[in-house]
Amino acid sequence: MKKVITYGTFDLFHKGHYNILKRAKEYGDYLIVGVTGENYDIGRGKLNVHDSLATRIENVQKTGFVDEIIVEEYLGQKIGDILKYGVDTFVIGDDWKGKFDHLSRYCNMVYLERTKGISSTQIREETFNQYNIGIVCDFPNDNQIIKESQFVNGFEVTNVYCEDNKVLDKFLEKYEVENTCENYSDLVENSDIVYVRCEISKRFSYIKKALIAGKHVIYDPPATFKEQELQELMDLAKQKKVILMNNIKMVHIHVFNQLLWMTQGGLIGDILSFNCAISKNDVTRSNLFYDLSVYTLVPMLKIMGLDYENFDCIVKKDGENIEFASMNFAYPNSRAIITVGNKMRVDNQLEIVGTEGTIRMKNDWWRSRNFEIHTPDSTDVQVFNTNFDGNGFKYLLRELSNLLADNRIDSRRIQEDELLEIIKILEQVRNSSD
Ligand code: CTP
Repeated sequence: MKKVITYGTFDLFHKGHYNILKRAKEYGDYLIVGVTGENYDIGRGKLNVHDSLATRIENVQKTGFVDEIIVEEYLGQKIGDILKYGVDTFVIGDDWKGKFDHLSRYCNMVYLERTKGISSTQIREETFNQYNIGIVCDFPNDNQIIKESQFVNGFEVTNVYCEDNKVLDKFLEKYEVENTCENYSDLVENSDIVYVRCEISKRFSYIKKALIAGKHVIYDPPATFKEQELQELMDLAKQKKVILMNNIKMVHIHVFNQLLWMTQGGLIGDILSFNCAISKNDVTRSNLFYDLSVYTLVPMLKIMGLDYENFDCIVKKDGENIEFASMNFAYPNSRAIITVGNKMRVDNQLEIVGTEGTIRMKNDWWRSRNFEIHTPDSTDVQVFNTNFDGNGFKYLLRELSNLLADNRIDSRRIQEDELLEIIKILEQVRNSSD
């Protein structure tokens, strides 16, 4: 019996898929089809898949050409499958020409001509809503939203507005954006989603204007220094039934959720201490301290909770600018220490000590692909890895895409009380003297 194997995502099943399966079967007696698993697609940055794995499998099955369906779960699985199933021929469309030549050491390789004029990408573009993103920017870089939005269904950055023309010129040297807006009202009017990427002092009013106009908003947090202003924005978003999403990419990344699961689920026992440090030296950003602090406070509040009993901090200021702060939170049976250096250098790291183990994330932990678990009774270190590329913005956009598709406005990955608590803490740090 001659066995043939082929692979694909088979999203929004179409004629091209049908044809390749039919022709693949003609190369043997038994056809195995590997359908990509959801985690595999997410890990390789293919976030635009619409149909669930169950639907995609069902559609492949329905063709009647397939004898066995397997799930492709990781990079490099294909060699193992060929050996495991005793495959004679590997078939794939010629959009992959040359990419799988190395498999010819194990079986025959056949590249088949693709059916012309159809693809899942094309169907997605024709079927689903397209959202224009407008970016209001004080900095000559886009935080990668332009590149990352290309990986997710239905988003395109089409508008930009910068108060400062010099910043705009630098921005346009780097990125191609269809429409340069004369003023902020233009940007809001022409966009479905506004990305607010500017100095903290301007965020509140930019966000508010966009929400009043009924536009969805992504913003770099903190939105404001005042708790009641954040509450006002959140209430306004609800009233207008639009999404107000902060740009904290970490909470959308698989590895961070795995870490939350492990700590909240008691896998390292009772938490004794949480230590987290971050620093960056960017002289062009006067209030960067607050942006950096948000990144440390999110995991702290998620893991340690909001019920700390006491808070104090040491700050080092240069005028209004905070260069360094050490924040100390006393919880009933544990302690959290957050160190933030803006200009002052500290080693970036995150360490959570529990009664049954310690979790460590080194270096740029907020965008790390892995964390380590050390247990007291073993010298072995367990490493949890996930694969993702880019800076994570695409995962945030995927969440936004899911919310829009389901008509939901609240992502719940960061809760309102956590966001309000962050502002409260930052307000106290801001008011403390050095
Ligand atoms: N295929 C084909 N003809 C098409 C589209 C796809 O022969 N018009 C083949 C691919 O070459 C591959 C298999 O079908 O061998 C599964 O492809 P998949 O990537 O799932 O489909 P696409 O339509 O190419 O999806 P996308 O647009 O998301 O890349």
